[in-house]
Amino acid sequence: PYVTEFRQSLVDWFNAEKRDLPWRHTTDPYKIWVSEVMLQQTRVDTVIPYYNRFMESFPTLDLLAEAPQEYLLKHWEGLGYYSRARNLQAGAREVLENYGGVVPDNRHEISKLKGVGPYTAGAILSIAYNKPEHAVDGNVMRVLSRVLDIHDDIAMPKTKKVFEVAVEKLIDPEHASSFNQGLMELGALICTPTSPKCLLCPVREYCTAFNEGEPDKLPVKSKK
Ligand code: ADE
Repeated sequence: PYVTEFRQSLVDWFNAEKRDLPWRHTTDPYKIWVSEVMLQQTRVDTVIPYYNRFMESFPTLDLLAEAPQEYLLKHWEGLGYYSRARNLQAGAREVLENYGGVVPDNRHEISKLKGVGPYTAGAILSIAYNKPEHAVDGNVMRVLSRVLDIHDDIAMPKTKKVFEVAVEKLIDPEHASSFNQGLMELGALICTPTSPKCLLCPVREYCTAFNEGEPDKLPVKSKK
């Protein structure tokens, strides 16, 4: 019952309280892909206008694949990490050539695409295809370290795996999209690095750190 109630509370909260963000009006895997790549190293507020301009110029995967690189990079100016844009286009071309223009719906195939790492793969699979696949980034690690009382050092690369295994057991098999986005949203709005707003948290009754009183001691993060 713990797991079922946790899922339900998180999913219901996300569906009621989610921010209205442009990429939340679509389940087009191409558009989710673009949004997740932009969001990897850049804040939501900054991404919004870039995402909107990008979708005006490149509304489909084909148009991105065919775009002149110079024109593509114009749309990335100010976002930084230009290799993200070049990888995105390379990935779009691979989808056209190898998958008939359809973004793969399984982790094995989607992970072969240029620039698609474990997080991006899980985000596209869960948000676009509602597949119960983990999408663990720093925010999700913070939330789960508190809920599940995980003390592994999040600065160590191998710790990611601990969280991926943990989410696999928790993720709502029927509502993977809202579940994963709920974890991201909780990290952004409630379960913040300092002064988390536990009294507003939909899952505080299931949260070990809240119940033991010291949520801001987690996650453990060494300087490295
Ligand atoms: N950060 C990473 N992915 C996100 C998403 N889909 N919505 C909001 N913030 C995010």
